[in-house]
Amino acid sequence: MSNKRVLSGIQPTGNLHLGNYLGAIKNFVAMQNEFQCFYMLADLHALTIKTQPKNLKESILNTAASFLAAGIDSKKNVIFCQSKVSSHAELSWILNCIARIGWLSRMTQFKEKAGSNKEKASVGLYTYPILMSADILIYKATHVPVGDDQKQHLELCRDIATKFNTDYENNYFALPEPIIPKFVARVMSLRDGCKKMSKSDESDLSRINLTDTKDQIVQKIKKAKTDSDPINENIFEKNSKRYEAQNLIKIYSNLKSETLDTVLNNFNGKTFYDFKKELSELLVEKICPISEKIKQYRSDDKELINILKIGSEKANDTAEKTILEIKKIVGLL
Ligand code: TYM
Repeated sequence: MSNKRVLSGIQPTGNLHLGNYLGAIKNFVAMQNEFQCFYMLADLHALTIKTQPKNLKESILNTAASFLAAGIDSKKNVIFCQSKVSSHAELSWILNCIARIGWLSRMTQFKEKAGSNKEKASVGLYTYPILMSADILIYKATHVPVGDDQKQHLELCRDIATKFNTDYENNYFALPEPIIPKFVARVMSLRDGCKKMSKSDESDLSRINLTDTKDQIVQKIKKAKTDSDPINENIFEKNSKRYEAQNLIKIYSNLKSETLDTVLNNFNGKTFYDFKKELSELLVEKICPISEKIKQYRSDDKELINILKIGSEKANDTAEKTILEIKKIVGLL
C-alpha cells in the first residue's frame, strides 16, 4: 500500500447534488485505486447549523447510500461517521489551542453562512475549520479531494499543521495537498450563475439532486437560466458575463469528459434550446443510475449501518494511534 493517504468528508445535510458529485465524489471514486482512502460523513459538522435529529439521521443514511451508489467501494475504502471516532474531537481541541483567532476570522465561508448577524451564529460554525483540520490530520492525510469552496479551509489546515510542527516536532505532520477538479471546481446554481449550487438554496430548481428522477432533471434543465445569444467562443472571454452559460457548458464538458474547446466547437452557433436537450440526456444517463442505486441501498438500512460500523472500527484503529502520539508530543500524561 502506498503511503499516500486520502481523507475527505461531506456533511450529511439534505440531498447530495451535482456540485458535490463533480466537485468531490467523482474524485473520491477516481482516487480509490491509487490511494488508501478514508471517506467520512461529517455528522459533527452538520450540527453547526440547527437540524432536526430525525432529519439528521435520515441524511446520514442517504449520504452513506449516495457514496456507495456513486461507486465508492466499501471494501477498498474506509467509509465512516466522524462522530464514531472520538479522536477527531480530541485533536480538534488541541488544534484549537494552536490556531490563531486572526486566522479563523478570515474564513469567508463563516462570513457567508453566519450572514449579517454573526453574534447569533454558533461557536461551532466559527471553529468548524479547526474540526475539519483535525479530520485530516488525525489520519496524516497527504491528499484531500474537495471542491473549490473548501480551498481556504485546506490552507488553514496547512497553517495549523505547520505551526504544530514548529511548536512541537519538526515534520510531524505532512502538509496535505488539496485535490480540486480543474474544470468545474465550483458548480453554480441553475437559477443564478453567480451563486454556488448548494443544499441550502431554498429553490430545488437551483440544483440537480443525486436522487432526482429523469422528469425532474429534464424540467430543471429546461428551466435553468441562460441567455438568448447562441453558443460561441465568447462565452469564456475575459470580460464575458455569461455566467449561466459558462456553468452549463462546464457541467456538460465534465460529464462528457470533453475539453471546453471541443464542446464549444461542437455546439458553435447553436442555441441553448438545442444544447439543453443534449445536456438533459447526458445528466439522465449519468445521474439516474446513481439515484436508482441510492434507492436500492436505502432499502437495506441494516446493511448500510453495518458498513458504517466496520468503517468506524477501521478509522478508530488509525486515529487512536495518532492521538496517542500527539498527546505524548504535547506533554499530556
Ligand atoms: P460540504 O458538505 O459542504 O460539501 C462536500 C463536498 O462537495 C463540494 N461542493 C462543491 N463542489 C463544487 N461545486 C459546488 N457547488 C459544491 N458544493 C459542495 C465541497 O467542496 C466538498 O468537497 N467542510 C466540508 C466537509 C468536511 C471535510 C472535512 C472535507 C468536513 N471535514 C475534511 C474535507 C476534509 C463541507 O462542509 O463540505
